[in-house]
Amino acid sequence: MGLLSSRTSIRSPSYLLPVLVLLSIFSLSAVFFLYKVDDFATRIKTLAGDNLDPTPWHLFPPKELHKDTSPRSRAYKVLHCSYLSCSSLSQWQTPLRFDSSKPVENCPQFFRWIHHDLEPWAKTGINMTHIMEAKKLAAFRVVIVGGRLFVDLYYDCVQSRAMFTIWGLLQMLKRYPGMVPDVDIMFDCMDKPVIDRTTNGPLPLPLFRYCTNQRSFDIPFPDWSFWGWPETNLRPWSEEFPDIKVGSHAKNWSQKFPLAYWKGNPDVASPLRVELLKCNDTERWGAQIMRQNWTEEAKDGFEKSKLSNQCKNRYKIYAEGFAWSVSLKYILSCNSLALIIAPQYEDFFTRGLIPKKNYWPVSPTNLCPSIKFAVDWGNSNPSEAETMGQRGQDFMESLSMDRVYDYMFHLIAEYSKLQDLAPSPPSSALEVCVDSLLCLADANQRKFLERTYTFPSPTPPCKLEPPNQSVIKSWMNEKEEAINEVRNMESQKNPV
Ligand SMILES: *[C@@H]1O[C@H](CO)[C@@H](O)[C@H](O)[C@H]1NC(C)=O
Ligand SMILES: *[C@@H]1O[C@H](CO)[C@@H](O)[C@H](O)[C@H]1NC(C)=O
Ligand SMILES: *[C@@H]1O[C@H](CO)[C@@H](O)[C@H](O)[C@H]1NC(C)=O
Ligand SMILES: *[C@@H]1O[C@H](CO)[C@@H](O)[C@H](O)[C@H]1NC(C)=O
Ligand SMILES: *[C@@H]1O[C@H](CO)[C@@H](O)[C@H](O)[C@H]1NC(C)=O
Repeated sequence: MGLLSSRTSIRSPSYLLPVLVLLSIFSLSAVFFLYKVDDFATRIKTLAGDNLDPTPWHLFPPKELHKDTSPRSRAYKVLHCSYLSCSSLSQWQTPLRFDSSKPVENCPQFFRWIHHDLEPWAKTGINMTHIMEAKKLAAFRVVIVGGRLFVDLYYDCVQSRAMFTIWGLLQMLKRYPGMVPDVDIMFDCMDKPVIDRTTNGPLPLPLFRYCTNQRSFDIPFPDWSFWGWPETNLRPWSEEFPDIKVGSHAKNWSQKFPLAYWKGNPDVASPLRVELLKCNDTERWGAQIMRQNWTEEAKDGFEKSKLSNQCKNRYKIYAEGFAWSVSLKYILSCNSLALIIAPQYEDFFTRGLIPKKNYWPVSPTNLCPSIKFAVDWGNSNPSEAETMGQRGQDFMESLSMDRVYDYMFHLIAEYSKLQDLAPSPPSSALEVCVDSLLCLADANQRKFLERTYTFPSPTPPCKLEPPNQSVIKSWMNEKEEAINEVRNMESQKNPV
C-alpha cells in the first residue's frame, strides 16, 4: 500500500490531488465523528450516577465511577450499556393467564393507605402541570409505556438507591407482564418528605419517595433495601427475613437481666439518637445503646451468627435517623418486643403497625424513663410482651416480596387511573431494562441484584379493597388511644 501510493504520487501527482482532498475530508469527518461520539458518550447520564450532580437538596460526595478505568473507556462502557443492551422485549407484553378457579387473596389491610396517599388527586386528577412542577423536586422520572420502562435522570442519588429502585420496578414488570398500566412518575430518592400539606394545598404535587409523614403529600414507595443494600452488606429482604427469623429463636425469654438494646449510627443529624445515648445505662434505664460500624460489620459478610446475635435481646429499640430508617423492618423481624420511639415518618408498610398490638410505643419527650417503663412492664408481663413481639415478627413475615410487588403494582395502577395525560417518555429519557442495568452495575452491585430475579407470577396480585377514609380515620384514632393509654400508665407509675 505504502509502495503503491508513493509510486503513484511520484508519477501522477495531479490525479492524486482530488483523491487526497477527498480522503482528508473523509478522515476529517471520521475524526469529527469519533470526536462527536466521544463527546456524546462522556455526557450520558446513568443510574450508576455518571454525569449527574448530587441532589442539591441533600448533598453527598460524588461517586468514583471510573477509578479502575480511564474516563474514555468508562464513557464507551456507558454508551454500550445505555444504548446497546435492551432489545425489544415483546414477550413482556404477553398477558398472564391465571387459574381463575382459585380465589384471589385480599391485600393486607395497610394497602388501604394507597387510597389515602392518592386522595389529594382523587377529584382533580394528575395532569402535566402536576408532573412538571414535581419535576423541580425530583431526582428522576420514570415513564412506563407498554410495559417498557424509561428513565429521565436529573440528579444522582446517594449510594445505589436509584439503581436498586429501578431494578425493583423492572422486576415488578417481569412479574406482571402486560398488566402494569402506562404511567409517568416523578421520584425523589432522598430521605425527607417535602410537599407540605399546608403550603401545597392548591396544587398538591405527586412525588414518590421512600417515606412520608402526616404533614406531607409525598407518596411512600418501597425502599431500595428490599432488593439489597450493597453498601451495608444487607441482602435482599427475601433472604434477610428467613435468616433473622431462624436466628430469633435463640432468644431466651427467661433470661435474668433482659435489656432494651439499640445499635445504630447516632451521627445522622438525628437529635433523637443523640438523646438516646444518654439512656446507655443498664442499671438505671435497663438499656444498652451501641454504635454500629458498618465498615467493621461488612467485613464479616453474611454470617448467620451475626443474625442470631442481632435478635438475642428481649427488647429492641427503634429510633428514627435523619428520617425513617430501613432498620425498622429488621428490628420488628426479631420477635423481640420492639420499643418504637414515636416515629415522625412513615414508610409504606409501617402504617399497618398498631401500638400495644405489635410494638410498644416509647415517648420521645421522656425518653429514658419511657424505655425503663417498657422494660419493667415487659418483665412483669412476659407472656404479653412475648405475644406482642411475636405479632411484630408475624407482621413482617406477612410482608413477603410478593406483597411488596403487589403494593407497587396497586399503587402504580391506582395512580395511573388519576392521570389526565398520555404517558410518553421525553426525548432525554432512556429505556432501562434488566440487561442495561446489570451492565452498569459494578461487580458487587451485580452480586446483590442477581439474587432477586423474578419471574411471571403464578397468581394474580392480591385484591385491593376500595377507598374508605373512615377506616383510615378509625385506625388513626385506635393508634392514638393506645399511645395515650401507655402515656397514662407511665404517668401513674412515675408521677412527674
Ligand atoms: C392541572 O390541574 C390544575 C389544578 O388541578 C390546574 O390548575 C392546571 O391548570 C391543570 N393543568 C393542565 C395542563 O391542564
Ligand atoms: C435462659 O435463662 C435462664 C435464666 O437466666 C437459664 O436458667 C436458662 O438455662 C436459659 N436457657 C437457655 C436455653 O439458655
Ligand atoms: C454504652 O455502654 C457500654 C457499657 O458501659 C459501652 O461499652 C458502650 O460503648 C456504650 N455505648 C456508647 C454508644 O457509648
Ligand atoms: C469503624 O471501623 C473501621 C474499621 O475497623 C475503623 O477504621 C473506623 O474508625 C470505625 N469507625 C468508627 C466511627 O468507629
Ligand atoms: C367504610 O368502613 C366503615 C367501617 O368499617 C363501614 O361502616 C362503611 O360502610 C364503609 N364505607 C363504605 C363506603 O364501604
